[in-house]
Amino acid sequence: MAGDPRVQDILDRALADIAGARSTSALEQVRVRVLGRSGELTALLRGLGKVPAADRPRFGQEVNRAKERLEAELEVRLVALKAEEHRQALQAQRPDLTLTGRAILPGAVHPLVRVLDEIIEIFAGLGFSVAEGPEVETDYYNFAALNFPDDHPARDMQDTFHLSADTLLRTHTSPVQIRTMKAERPPVRYIFPGKTYRRDADITHSPMFHQVEGLAVDTNISLGDLKGTLEHFAREMFGAGVSLRFRPSFFPFTEPSAEADVSCFACGGSGCRLCKQSGWLEILGSGMVHPNVLRNVGYDPEEVTGWAFGMGVERVAMLKYRIDDIRLFFENDLRFLGQFAS
Ligand code: PHE
Repeated sequence: MAGDPRVQDILDRALADIAGARSTSALEQVRVRVLGRSGELTALLRGLGKVPAADRPRFGQEVNRAKERLEAELEVRLVALKAEEHRQALQAQRPDLTLTGRAILPGAVHPLVRVLDEIIEIFAGLGFSVAEGPEVETDYYNFAALNFPDDHPARDMQDTFHLSADTLLRTHTSPVQIRTMKAERPPVRYIFPGKTYRRDADITHSPMFHQVEGLAVDTNISLGDLKGTLEHFAREMFGAGVSLRFRPSFFPFTEPSAEADVSCFACGGSGCRLCKQSGWLEILGSGMVHPNVLRNVGYDPEEVTGWAFGMGVERVAMLKYRIDDIRLFFENDLRFLGQFAS
């Protein structure tokens, strides 16, 4: 029994197109064309009413068989095409192992932290402990307890940021001396690193800067101990060849007081640009703790003596690395900071 030529024609073309479809969307187009709502085979089924009654069951069966066959073929082809498309998508995502890697920039310790760490390490090696204090201080700890009389001109040495009549941003780390001595009994051997603040800004002064304070109080502590300690520090920091000298100075909280200079490590003391032809570089202020300060913290100046010093970390770093503008430390220019990476 010969089949209906129209059904056979639709079936042949559809099977060829299914086999030739190269993508799931091309396959879908074939399905719509043949089996969709206005598809070729659907149209034949719709026209079933016009077929002579005698031929109707056979024709209907034939169309349905063609439809089932096509649906089965479409399904098989769809599974195959989906698998192929998935494989291609994975292929497209595969990393190219021949590409060069992306460099990861390593961080670096900030030059100030580096110098601060070095200072701490030198004094830790001499048995000093490290303590810190608040950056917002009272007038008492920053000035009065350190033997600055009210309205004394010595307060003008430190251009102060006041927060109220009685509170301020500490102008030096010396208030931590007071806090520590009040909390402990001699012997006391400490360094106090931290941020300090003054109303001052130019190429060698910054409103926020760092100091390291040193303090030693015990029986029989002498100015000779201070000089020996600072000389050891200077040699560790700037080189074994440097020497240290004291110049008389004044601080309300030390008596006698001295500025300490190191011999210029750039020229060996003969005079150059770094030391402004003087052969010496000023690095810190120091002195024997004033008896009034010892009394203010409840120590007996007849029993114990002590010394203290204070240095600017930026100044030490600028000398050591020949940096001529303090603002470089705070601008965070990676071209500057990267030079301290190793
Ligand atoms: N506090 C002083 C300053 O900031 C430095 C100093 C500390 C001097 C300790 C003597 C003793 O100028």
